[in-house]
Amino acid sequence: VIKFLDLRTLNQQYSENFQNLFSNFLESGRYILGEQVENFEREFSAYCKVEYCVGVGNGFDALRLIFMAYKQMGLFKEGDEILVPANTYIATVLAIADQGLVPVLVEPDPYSFNIDPFRIENFISNKTRGILPVHLYGQLADMASIQGIANKFSLVLIEDCAQAHGSRNENGELAGSFGHAAAFSFYPGKNLGALGDGGAITTNNKRLYDILRKLRNYGSSQKYLNEIKGVNSRLDEIQAGILRIKLRNLDFDNDRRREIALEYTNGVNNEIIKLPKWGGGADHVFHLFVIQSNYRESLARYLKSYDIETLIHYPVPIHLQKSFPEFIKAKLPRTEEIHETVLSIPLYPSLKDFEVHRIIEALNRFERPQ
Ligand SMILES: Cc1ncc(COP(=O)(O)O)c(C=O)c1O
Repeated sequence: VIKFLDLRTLNQQYSENFQNLFSNFLESGRYILGEQVENFEREFSAYCKVEYCVGVGNGFDALRLIFMAYKQMGLFKEGDEILVPANTYIATVLAIADQGLVPVLVEPDPYSFNIDPFRIENFISNKTRGILPVHLYGQLADMASIQGIANKFSLVLIEDCAQAHGSRNENGELAGSFGHAAAFSFYPGKNLGALGDGGAITTNNKRLYDILRKLRNYGSSQKYLNEIKGVNSRLDEIQAGILRIKLRNLDFDNDRRREIALEYTNGVNNEIIKLPKWGGGADHVFHLFVIQSNYRESLARYLKSYDIETLIHYPVPIHLQKSFPEFIKAKLPRTEEIHETVLSIPLYPSLKDFEVHRIIEALNRFERPQ
């Protein structure tokens, strides 16, 4: 069986490093916010070419804490509107709602599936305070246009980089360095994945950084002195150690992902399968390789019969989820069409060449169902 994602083979190569890490960690006697988190924060901010990084419990908290910090700074208040793509993972939108802010769903660009910059201005009201683009599937959103809009309307720009560690534009600017703040997830399946939950926030804003450091630790920077109301959301020390080991391989892993993506792009030739639009650059790190077909269910079943696993990202759009009854009247035809036709095929660094070729062959032999 060709697994959709094989976390075991992805992490196998680090086995010895992880064992050493664990023995040293055990011996260190310091298990929360120790040197691993501190070093990871330094190394990850350097990698993203930003001043500061704060390690937190997961990607959802990274987003939530950014909103909490801006409320603390007086830039956001409950009821303020935040523009967000309608097709993203639900965590992005939940984090806005969690902080008493109002998510405003914007339709995607039909080619990249990322938030459509041409539509954003239509949704700006006198309550709009922020914009939260997502680099979906690993491809940078159109950050030049979005930065222009954020500046024009004085909006806070927050990036959701949960799927885009290491993607960069032609000037070498990285995901996580375009916004006023950016959120990362290190969920095990991400391009930079821990062996458990993990997340981080990157920013160049010292004041935001200072507040975030307190917020993740009960609002305290000095034990038992609580300056603001915070939460407990600290990046785990052992996960930080694991991430430091894997960060050294991130660019290499992303190159391998693009190599496989190129094989798919060049090899798949079937008129009833649509391939993702990509110019070949490093703006895409292929967290997911998402194809489209009007016969999606048959295609998934067909691939399964060839022992090829697939997944759908995502089957039900946020505005049609039971948890968001407030969106029930939203008209988002592009988002719905995407959700009805997308299918993600296996793509990860430890996928073997022969597996890639088997997948290409199977896709090319797929026929329109009767
Ligand atoms: C786009 C996006 N945002 C946020 C998250 C939330 O990250 P986490 O699962 O670490 O909370 C995820 C992944 O799960 C994601 O894909």
